[in-house]
Amino acid sequence: MSNRTFTMIKPDAFASQYTGAILQQIEAAGFKIVAMKATRLSESKAGEFYAVHKERPFYGELVAFMSSGPIVAAILEKENAVEDFRKLIGATNPANAEEGTIRKKFARSVGENAIHGSDSNENAKIEGDFFFSAFERI
Ligand code: CMP
Repeated sequence: MSNRTFTMIKPDAFASQYTGAILQQIEAAGFKIVAMKATRLSESKAGEFYAVHKERPFYGELVAFMSSGPIVAAILEKENAVEDFRKLIGATNPANAEEGTIRKKFARSVGENAIHGSDSNENAKIEGDFFFSAFERI
C-alpha cells in the first residue's frame, strides 16, 4: 500500500471549467494535494505518457485528445491512495460509473472521461515523476 497517487484533469473537464468542482470533491474525500500544475501536453509527450496503450486501437484518438488542450496534473496523498482514488473517480466508461463519482458527474464518454487516476502504486510513481521534479512537490 502506498499513500500517493497521480491524477490529471483532462482537456474536456478543463475546457468545461470543472477543475474547481473536481478539486473540491477530491479534497472533500480526504486527499491532500502535494503537487499540482496546469499545463498542456504536446502530442509527443501525450504519446509517451500513454505508451503502455500503444498497441490499442484507441491510442491515436487518446493521444490527439490528451494533447488537444490544457490539463491539470497533480500528486495526491491519502492512505490507500491509488485504490481509494479509483473508487472516487469511477469506471473508465462514465456509462458504467457509480452515481456520485467524478466520471459519472463530469465525463462525456470513455475517451473524454474527465480525469485520470493511476492504476497501481508503481504507475503512480512513474506518472508523478513524469510531470514533477522533487522541487515541485511537498
Ligand atoms: P485513463 O484512465 O486515462 O487511461 C487510459 C485511457 O484510455 C482511459 O482513461 C480512456 O480515456 C482511454 N480509453 C480507454 N478505452 C477507450 C476506448 N475504448 N476508446 C477510447 N478511449 C479509451
